[in-house]
Amino acid sequence: MKEWTRAKSVFWGDDMIQGRLDRRQFVRLGATAAASMAFGLAACSSAQESAGSTSTAAENASSETSASSLTDSASASSSAFSSSVTQASSSQSVAAYAVEDKLLASGFTMPALGLGTWTLSVDEAEASTYCALENGYRLVDTAQYYGNEEGVGSAVRRAVADGLCAREDVFVTSKIMPSSFDRAAESIDESLARLDLGYIDLMLIHQPGSNDEAVWRALEDAVRAGKLRSIGISNYYTPEHYDAIASIAEIPVVLVQNENHPYYQNNDLQVHVESTGSFVESWYPLGGRPGVAQLLANETLNSIAAVHGKTAAQAILRWHVQAGYIAIPGSSNPSHIAENIQIFDFALSDDEMAQVAALNGVGRFENW
Ligand SMILES: NC(=O)c1ccc[n+]([C@@H]2O[C@H](COP(=O)([O-])OP(=O)(O)OC[C@H]3O[C@@H](n4cnc5c(N)ncnc54)[C@H](OP(=O)(O)O)[C@@H]3O)[C@@H](O)[C@H]2O)c1
Repeated sequence: MKEWTRAKSVFWGDDMIQGRLDRRQFVRLGATAAASMAFGLAACSSAQESAGSTSTAAENASSETSASSLTDSASASSSAFSSSVTQASSSQSVAAYAVEDKLLASGFTMPALGLGTWTLSVDEAEASTYCALENGYRLVDTAQYYGNEEGVGSAVRRAVADGLCAREDVFVTSKIMPSSFDRAAESIDESLARLDLGYIDLMLIHQPGSNDEAVWRALEDAVRAGKLRSIGISNYYTPEHYDAIASIAEIPVVLVQNENHPYYQNNDLQVHVESTGSFVESWYPLGGRPGVAQLLANETLNSIAAVHGKTAAQAILRWHVQAGYIAIPGSSNPSHIAENIQIFDFALSDDEMAQVAALNGVGRFENW
């Protein structure tokens, strides 16, 4: 059953400006995923082992900061990355192919790869989010509609308590569902309470609706109140549709999250939104449950993957981030979660990117 039918002058506060990452932090944190590869973290190793390996490597590196606070422990992780780059040739290639975080129009940064949690229960979302954080992910996507915000929030809090990461280093997205459009402000507060992370990094309008302009105003009010850091939209597929919100926005639309994969590429929309400093984020990056088997069996994708000694899933995800998209593959399988972030030690050639681009047009796997 479809996701929707199942559920029936820019303002910046001083605190937000102070909350921005400077360029140096941005580049360092953007290497988080690559750092996890350099350490070769096993899928869902215990938090203690993971934190331990990070701090040990950090001790060997010329750390710029002490690891005495949660924020500092994230810096230690980055320092460990720098150290590992100089220690192993495989890590050098990791550094070469790392993809920088996206600098959003809000001034905040967002990783280009994260974990999706649609269809996961609260417990599955908790376990998968924690597993993802162990494996170096720093972006998690949830939604009011998924009914698992509690699980995502709980996993992030546990990871922070375990020293795996700092709250500020994890980027959490949620979405206002259509049945809450007429009580958007209240529903934002409810999401804040369910996630219990102090603030939400990114809140989206989950889909267009007759009153989505009023929902956008509620999102802007929540940014001004410090409840949300960035705001965006989802399931707006044409430039005109995108502009319906972007043109009335007082606080910028930082991204649009749409179905996007090799068989259905949001090319025109991407060109349009990038001209405004915004991004396309890919849902169903692997084709989703209706299309993943078909996409992963594609001959072109498999032959590209074989050249690099990678899986078809990894080749597809590498295409997403290399094409400038943000991808959030969903999984509750620890092996897949670990596999899906191992895409920063290789790059597709121009010819391979063109081969994937040529797969466009097969079509969508959903119809909303
Ligand atoms: N805004 C919206 O309207 C909207 C709509 C849909 C989705 N989303 C968001 O986008 C995220 C991504 O979409 P999605 O999760 O539906 O689809 P997806 O990421 O394209 O595909 C998920 C499917 O792929 C499988 N999979 C994941 N990694 C794999 C790998 N390495 N090898 C083989 N199979 C693999 C998963 O199974 P396993 O669990 O077994 O790994 C699952 O069946 C969602 O989780 C959600 O956060 C947003």
